[in-house]
Amino acid sequence: MLTDLPAWKGLQAHRAAWNNVHLRDLFKTDPKRFDRYSPRLDELLLDYSKNLISDETLALLRRLAVEANVPAWTEAMFKGEKINFTENRAVLHVALRSDSGKPVFVDGQNIIPAVADVLSQMRVFTDSVRNGSWRGHSGKVISDVVSIGIGGSDLGPAMACRALKSYGSKQLSMHFVSNVDPNHIGDTLDDLNAETTLFIISSKTFTTLETLANAKIARRWLVEKLGSEQAVAKHFVAVSTNEAAVRAFGIDPANMFIFWDWVGGRYSMWSAIGLPIAVYIGMDGFESMLAGARDMDEHFRSDPVGSMPATLALLSIWYQHFWDAHSHAVLPYDQHLGRFPAYLQQLCMESNGKRVTRQGEVVSHATGEIVWGEPGTNGQHAFYQLLHQGTRFIPADFLLAATTAHPYDGMQQMLAANCMAQSEALMLGKTEEEARSELKAEGLDDDKIRLLLPHKVFPGNRPSNTLLYRELNPRTLGRLVALYEHKTFVQSVLWNINAFDQWGVELGKKLAGTLIRELGEGTPITGHDASTNWLASYCQRLGRDKSG
Ligand code: F6P
Repeated sequence: MLTDLPAWKGLQAHRAAWNNVHLRDLFKTDPKRFDRYSPRLDELLLDYSKNLISDETLALLRRLAVEANVPAWTEAMFKGEKINFTENRAVLHVALRSDSGKPVFVDGQNIIPAVADVLSQMRVFTDSVRNGSWRGHSGKVISDVVSIGIGGSDLGPAMACRALKSYGSKQLSMHFVSNVDPNHIGDTLDDLNAETTLFIISSKTFTTLETLANAKIARRWLVEKLGSEQAVAKHFVAVSTNEAAVRAFGIDPANMFIFWDWVGGRYSMWSAIGLPIAVYIGMDGFESMLAGARDMDEHFRSDPVGSMPATLALLSIWYQHFWDAHSHAVLPYDQHLGRFPAYLQQLCMESNGKRVTRQGEVVSHATGEIVWGEPGTNGQHAFYQLLHQGTRFIPADFLLAATTAHPYDGMQQMLAANCMAQSEALMLGKTEEEARSELKAEGLDDDKIRLLLPHKVFPGNRPSNTLLYRELNPRTLGRLVALYEHKTFVQSVLWNINAFDQWGVELGKKLAGTLIRELGEGTPITGHDASTNWLASYCQRLGRDKSG
């Protein structure tokens, strides 16, 4: 058990030494602090110097990772062992971006040639859409691409297409429909011309309720608008592991892009699930994104306990278990990363929201940090008050690009300055003395100062990491996403949980199935608890009243 490891005991003893330490003093007394805690991968810089750590803390955390067998688990993942044992699957998203030419075997089969084949198929298809040789049923060039999927079959492509807008085709508009809320598909279709719209239906299982419901509506809309079932062949493609279900839905398997059960949904944007990204930025851009992820894979594999992802994971363990942190804020100072926090929520929380160990015992400690965030500077005018002066201890990651595609009037510098000012403010805080002199300088009398002083103090000592990169290009994005993937993996090894299954989503799906049937039948709903019976019945009544 994690808490029985010698390094854990060492960390427990070590924590007491931090009770009266302030980060501002550490920076004052150690001019080399930044140099020691700011590794780079090419131009991607991770500054983790504003953390409540010393060399001793780091040594203990890294020893903990060794004692928890992080290096062995890392090798097991890269070599294709079936570490997702509850689903009897290998975990090989890393193989999707490997270009070493080295074989990787799953059930005795080298998977690398199949990966290359799908990439080639993606190139042919995306080139033809982008250069206008792929035409719709009536002969028109495609102008709009609608990706229909949910969870891992939506968030990665949606996040990446927004992130890489500067690299996207000017001829194509991308749309993402995920929710079973009919407004999502309805609002999207309302604005589209069927003759020039291409649908990409993405679902690993091709059984997911939301995706199939949305795809059915899209198919019906298209056939109605174009007046022919034959039109489907030119307007629908599918990405899935389930060929039979794709065929049953009425999509020609020739228009299908496959991937494999050893690619987890939330790790799948590197597979054909990334087709919307590839259509939008082109296959060269997509391969550059894969190369970025590969950079991070190689960096991580070469040092599974000292690399950037391992360091982020160990810091999160330090804060969650020894500083009572419950959540982690991700604050991109990069509008193009607007969906990055949502993407990370699935990656981190679906992976590590587990309550039993690999041996099936209930864990005796917390797992799975709660990830949330919003782009800066919007967040500053919303929830940063709580970060600075609230009672919660919330470590944060700041992400910042040094350059922008839109260099208007020094705005990028304003953005960058705000980003750095926030991590500085969180770290430094403002002492009572500093606050008092400021109030005095403003000419306030003693009574007013006494009233305001406690409200003007910032405790500071609040840790953060900053990831700084030149520009958010496909390669940088690949590096960033792989960084968080491996961070999540290292956390899971330390917690001794399986990061690659998601049984926790099943119960709600099953209960929804029953309620869908009951709401559809329109008969009295009595078979649940009183609350659910009432909600369902009242919802039926309100719906009837409106339609009546
Ligand atoms: O509901 C959770 C989940 O299974 C995710 O893990 C997955 O990414 C998503 O649903 C979508 O599944 P599919 O790709 O099979 O439609």
